[in-house]
Amino acid sequence: MQTVHTIADLRALLSGRGRPAFVPTMGNLHEGHLGLVRQARALGDVTVASIFVNRLQFLPHEDFDSYPRTLQRDADLLRGEGCDVLFAPREADLYPEPQTFTVQPDPRLADMLEGHFRPGFFTGVCTVVLKLLSCVFAGSPGVAVFGAKDYQQLMVVRAMARQFALPVQIACGQTCRAADGLALSSRNGYLSEAERAQAVQLFAALRSLAQGALAPGADLPALEQHALAALRAQGWQPDYLTVRQRSDLQAPRNPQAGQLVALGAARLGNTRLIDNLEF
Ligand code: PAF
Repeated sequence: MQTVHTIADLRALLSGRGRPAFVPTMGNLHEGHLGLVRQARALGDVTVASIFVNRLQFLPHEDFDSYPRTLQRDADLLRGEGCDVLFAPREADLYPEPQTFTVQPDPRLADMLEGHFRPGFFTGVCTVVLKLLSCVFAGSPGVAVFGAKDYQQLMVVRAMARQFALPVQIACGQTCRAADGLALSSRNGYLSEAERAQAVQLFAALRSLAQGALAPGADLPALEQHALAALRAQGWQPDYLTVRQRSDLQAPRNPQAGQLVALGAARLGNTRLIDNLEF
C-alpha cells in the first residue's frame, strides 16, 4: 500500500490504474470501515481509502480536537485488508486556503435530524466529500462506498453525486455491529465500561419503535414520544428517535406501506451515538 498526502501525488499515483473504488473515512478505523474496504476491493481496479478529520463538519463545541487520530495503526489495518492507496492529506493539503466555496445541500433533506441538531454538518460533509471525490476520480470514474450507519449522510451524498452528475457511483456498506447489537463507531471508544454495557439500548429503542410502528393503526408521534421518554429514563439524552420514509426521510404518509427506517441519535454521558434500522 502506498500512502500519499498531497492531491498531486494522489492523482499521479492513480493515473492509468483504472477505476478507483474509494472509502472516505476520518480514521480511527474499526471492523465497520474494514468491511467497507473489503466491499470496495470487489468494485474497482484500485482500492483507495482516505483519512482526514474534516474540521468543516464539526461545530465549535464538538470533538474535533479530541477526535482520535491513529494514522499508523489505521495504515497497518488498511494494508492488512489489501488497500492499494491511502490518501492522508494534512489540513494544508486539502484546505491550502480557507474553503470559502462550500456545498449547500438541499435543506429539505439536510436540515432535519442530524442537520437540525448539528447545523452546518452536511455542508461540511458535502464540501469535503465533493473535494475528496474530485481528487480521487480525476482520471477515471469509479465507485465510493459509504456506511449505512450514517443513513442521512449516505442519502445526502447520493443526492449530491446525482445532481452534480459526479462520475461516481455511491455504494452502501452495511452497518457492522458488535455481538450485543451496538453499531460500530469510532466514537464508541469514548464510552466508559458502564456506558459501553448500556450503549446497545439505543438500537433496542429503535427495534421497539419499529415493532410498534408496524402494528395496525399505530400512532407514530405517540410511539416516538414514548421511545424518547424510555431512553431518558435509562439515563440518555436523546436528540431524536423517529420513524421516516426511506425515500425522502419525511414522516410516513402511510406506515402500512412499508419502506420505513427508524433513526435515532442520543447522548450517553459525553458520547453522542447515532443508529438506524430499516424495516
Ligand atoms: O462518515 C465519515 O467518516 C465522514 O463524514 C466522511 C464521509 C469521511 C467525511 O468527512
